[in-house]
Amino acid sequence: MDRIIIKGGQPLLGTIPVSGAKNSALKLQAAALLTADELVLGNMPSLADTRFFCDLLATLGNPDGGSVDWPAGTSVARFRFDRIGSTFASYDLVRKMRASFNVLGPLLAREGEARVSLPGGCAIGARPVDLHLKALEALGAEIALEDGYVIARAPRGLKGAEIIFPFVSVGATEHAMLASVLAEGETIIENAAREPEIIDLAECLTAMGARISGAGGTTIRITGVSRLHGAHFAVMPDRIEAGTYALAAAAAGGDVLLHGARAGHLSSLLQVLRQSGARTNIEADGVRIAREPGRPRPVDIETRPFPGFPTDLQAQFMGYVCTAEGASIIRETIFENRFMHVPELMRMGADIHIRGNEAVVRGVPLLRGAPVMATDLRASVSLVVAGLAAQGETLVNRVYHLDRGFERLEEKLTACGAKVARI
Ligand code: UD1
Repeated sequence: MDRIIIKGGQPLLGTIPVSGAKNSALKLQAAALLTADELVLGNMPSLADTRFFCDLLATLGNPDGGSVDWPAGTSVARFRFDRIGSTFASYDLVRKMRASFNVLGPLLAREGEARVSLPGGCAIGARPVDLHLKALEALGAEIALEDGYVIARAPRGLKGAEIIFPFVSVGATEHAMLASVLAEGETIIENAAREPEIIDLAECLTAMGARISGAGGTTIRITGVSRLHGAHFAVMPDRIEAGTYALAAAAAGGDVLLHGARAGHLSSLLQVLRQSGARTNIEADGVRIAREPGRPRPVDIETRPFPGFPTDLQAQFMGYVCTAEGASIIRETIFENRFMHVPELMRMGADIHIRGNEAVVRGVPLLRGAPVMATDLRASVSLVVAGLAAQGETLVNRVYHLDRGFERLEEKLTACGAKVARI
């Protein structure tokens, strides 16, 4: 099994190209099921998750093959679902990657039926899908749960409806959008998530002929159309990847241009980075982060839906403030079990106490490299952030978690002078 070895203490200097956003790409891939024409997605990040989603999609497409074409080493993927061969997504497929559940809405919208496994829990919490199912029911789907599967039917097609979410869910908002673009009549989604990935999905669907307004705000209106057509669309830059490297540069010190990063997607992070003593500069082709050697200032954060501080950067932020000159309080409000990186950071000498959904991080002068274990995608990269700043060698085990979400991580860091290798 691959491991990553980091010799810490080197400043990061140079340019890091930001890849396409995993979390957006996965939903755009699901959107490909909505049309019989070709959807061409550019700027696709080649990751375990996006590749896996292609394998899943191929099982749903034309049984004679040719539904998905994404040559290795390229960032352009072509999807053509001229026929849907199957409306079944097995437990094995959905268990491996929760985002697989997003095929339910498109299959239902296009074929009037689908049988998709419930995802089950994951390392960061229970993560139910009740809001997804309520949205589909509001659109007129008949839903039954049998043996761990969602059996959904809409024999007379989906009908536009008002969907009011009791709290913000990125996945449920996206699922409601994917299902309602082909529904008859108008759908209004209230208390919609405002994440940039929602706008990306709306723009891609619009390029395919959908009629959507309000994406990026709390109310999204969708007027159903009878068919969608093919399109070419480029996936937005990954704000979580960009934010991770911003935190890595701040933690290790140095000066890095995050090429392609959009400052507007990172405003809450950039603000706390400045509070901690890092310099941020918005440039024509990206965002620059620099920090002089020395300890950062402590900063308190609370994770929130966009435009608040993203939960997907919480672990990396904690890795950064482990060496701050004072205590930082980190409150996680999105997922109930997202502090699994804490014991691993403590193995590196961090001083962290958890009380409920809060972690109190008392800065220590220095972290020391240690063998550590990756537990989920974002937790594992927080260990890389900490390892880059630490003295000595950090060995990160179970790096398959990293491969789910970070494209060419060692290559990008090494190009900036980091001592990182896969063994
Ligand atoms: C997406 C992202 C994930 C990110 C999260 C929050 C993808 C593939 N994943 O996950 O990286 O951390 O947004 O920004 O895009 N919930 C329910 N019922 C539901 C749906 C959600 O109770 O039906 C809860 C979740 O358990 C969680 C909260 O709502 O506590 C927010 O989750 P949600 O925004 O839906 O996250 P995901 O879409 O799963």
